[in-house]
Amino acid sequence: MTRQGPIAKSLGRAARAAVTFFALAIALYALSYLFRRERVFPPDLAASFLARPWGIYPHALFGAIALALGSVQFWRNLPYSHPALHRTLGTIYVVATLGTGAAGLYMSFFAFGGAVTQLGFGLLAVSVLSTTAIAYRRIRRRDVARHREWMLRSYALIFAAVTLRLELPILIGIFHGFAPAYAVVAWLCWLPNLVLAELYVTATRSTAGSTSRSARTPVPS
Ligand code: HEM
Repeated sequence: MTRQGPIAKSLGRAARAAVTFFALAIALYALSYLFRRERVFPPDLAASFLARPWGIYPHALFGAIALALGSVQFWRNLPYSHPALHRTLGTIYVVATLGTGAAGLYMSFFAFGGAVTQLGFGLLAVSVLSTTAIAYRRIRRRDVARHREWMLRSYALIFAAVTLRLELPILIGIFHGFAPAYAVVAWLCWLPNLVLAELYVTATRSTAGSTSRSARTPVPS
């Protein structure tokens, strides 16, 4: 790991605080689906959700858990200062992510707006499922460095739930309507997240090889 200066440390703290804030806000919104049900369905999506309650409710519940817990996992030093807590939260995160990804994949076949939207959400679901599975396999093999990298990718994709809801009102303003904005946001909510995660992974990549002893030893980031 590279040593960080005071400005980089402050920026890192601010970024983690912002991620946690937005993650918790959108997790609460998703949980409101379980209590307020049809009253919170977006009008254009309501018919599909009413027809597929076994898709949307598990998706919202598991999504809220993954989004909230994932943000905590990146708090500075948590994996090293509280390894047992990190493992427990991590196991719940993996189960919740696979749950929301599987339900999201199912829902993507019926997403509002046709093929462009369905393909965008479908690829997001496949990417979430695969990055999370790879991250899990890496840590089962004690490869801490690669586990961290794949978990960063996984969470960048889960964070699409936040970026979608920040971008959608802006896109509706630009395209003057829900339908075209929704087709664009089905891609724009996750592709830039993945690019940013990739840039971050590259910038902070451990110089040690993935199979070397030093990469297997936790090092505070
Ligand atoms: C990262 C993988 C995800 C995929 C592939 C995905 C996919 C989808 C799809 C296809 C729909 C239905 C859209 C439609 O019928 O047009 C949907 C709706 C929804 N998703 Fe996700 N989603 C993901 C992550 C999350 C997460 C992490 C949350 C948690 C906050 C979440 C919460 C919701 C909610 C609340 C809705 C209802 C629509 C709304 O109120 O905006 N999703 N998702």
